[in-house]
Amino acid sequence: MTIKISVIGTGYLGATHAAAMAELGYDVVGVEVDPRRLASLQKGTLPFYEPGLDEVLMSNIGNGRLRFTDDAAEAAAWADVQFVCVGTPQEAGSNRADLSYLFSAIDALAGSIKQGALIVGKSTIPVGTTAVLKARFLEAAPDRTDVHFAWNPEFLREGFALEDTLHPDRVVIGVDDQESETALRQVYAPMITEGIPFIVTDITTAELVKVAANSFLATKISFINAMAEVCEAAGGDVTTLAEAIGHDARIGNRFLHAGVGFGGGCLPKDIRAFAARAEEIGAGEAVAFLGEVDAINLRRRDRMVQLTRELIGDDLTGRKLTVLGATFKPDSDDIRDAPSLAVARLLHQAGAQVTVHDPKGIPNAERYAPELSYEASLPAALDGAEVVLHLTEWREYRSVDPSELAALVASPNLIDGRNVLDLEAWKAAGWTVRAPGRTA
Ligand SMILES: NC(=O)c1ccc[n+]([C@@H]2O[C@H](COP(=O)([O-])OP(=O)(O)OC[C@H]3O[C@@H](n4cnc5c(N)ncnc54)[C@H](O)[C@@H]3O)[C@@H](O)[C@H]2O)c1
Repeated sequence: MTIKISVIGTGYLGATHAAAMAELGYDVVGVEVDPRRLASLQKGTLPFYEPGLDEVLMSNIGNGRLRFTDDAAEAAAWADVQFVCVGTPQEAGSNRADLSYLFSAIDALAGSIKQGALIVGKSTIPVGTTAVLKARFLEAAPDRTDVHFAWNPEFLREGFALEDTLHPDRVVIGVDDQESETALRQVYAPMITEGIPFIVTDITTAELVKVAANSFLATKISFINAMAEVCEAAGGDVTTLAEAIGHDARIGNRFLHAGVGFGGGCLPKDIRAFAARAEEIGAGEAVAFLGEVDAINLRRRDRMVQLTRELIGDDLTGRKLTVLGATFKPDSDDIRDAPSLAVARLLHQAGAQVTVHDPKGIPNAERYAPELSYEASLPAALDGAEVVLHLTEWREYRSVDPSELAALVASPNLIDGRNVLDLEAWKAAGWTVRAPGRTA
């Protein structure tokens, strides 16, 4: 009999997981509380941009394996395995994770969950959260000791979400009984057969794996950005430095790109929540360095403003600037904590007239930062600019002709905040260029 799966919370993580589970052949229901997202998913339209996901969503709605609802009770009573994929954003006024969406999801399950069902958390959470959720569940439904809890952290990258979900680097499950392990081995049988590492551990370790992985990645990015600061002071070139150290296989060159730093809905809030939780459990000193990782990252945003001033002078009042990129990374429309938008806002606060261009992120950015101007056409966005700041590395920005662009702007000044453009070609086309960690 086909396993019945519910996916509670169908944002970037949940919608991908629901579609991927249906693609593997399971019967899946996605539960969503946001009426706009729900209506869109029910029509088979993705409410966000993720390459390749819309086709899989549509085909599995079409073949009847995938549906979406706001009826949490019906889904809870129907599914054998209930994946919880709701958001865990940074709590207002603190560095901790806001667990209120998780609490609502668990409360909704407690009323009607199927006999013997397995609740599997996939959201990123502070260590110890599963125990809190289980206690909350049993307080609401004291006689439901038949229900199992497990944690199964998710490592997907936006822009590659479907591929990462169907063919992950590894699957990690945290369980405290054999039934949960057996059920999850069944769900992930296609991955196990494919030879993908399947790591079975206790719930505490599984909870920690995700925040440890994100902390490592954030540290690697901030390490090379710290080297960029040193290069700026000493007159070196961080891109060559990164290439040179990256050839050492123990270091590796991935995630070793100096630039405007990391952002998005995961890394910044995850390292802060990890540090806050470590403090609570008496291990604050062990991860105190994450505060520095965060600080280095945020300083890179100020550096973009500094470079702008180096190009056109300190007074930015009324100066026309163009920011290329609104999303936190290419191939996504996610603007959560995007460094590009943060820099655009800093420039705006300094009095500049900022126009932002982005291939996919403008509708989200307009809602988040309505004080900025937006242009969907690249030539219109560049018209009259005194400085162009390249802050999200969309492929289309790499393939432009710098000579053609030079004719559109008022002054050909470029800041390559991602260190990916061919600066020699831009210079040859008449541009004055600056980039973090590199001397002019
Ligand atoms: N986005 C990623 O790349 C990614 C990768 C790995 C892990 N994560 C983690 O996954 C979690 C979700 O992230 P996301 O980016 O998908 O967030 P998101 O905000 O895009 O999606 C969360 C969804 O859950 C819905 N929701 C909230 N409460 C609900 C409830 N009680 N019942 C049903 N639906 C509910 C919201 O309306 C929203 O659509 C976070 O913990 C995040 O850290 C995200």
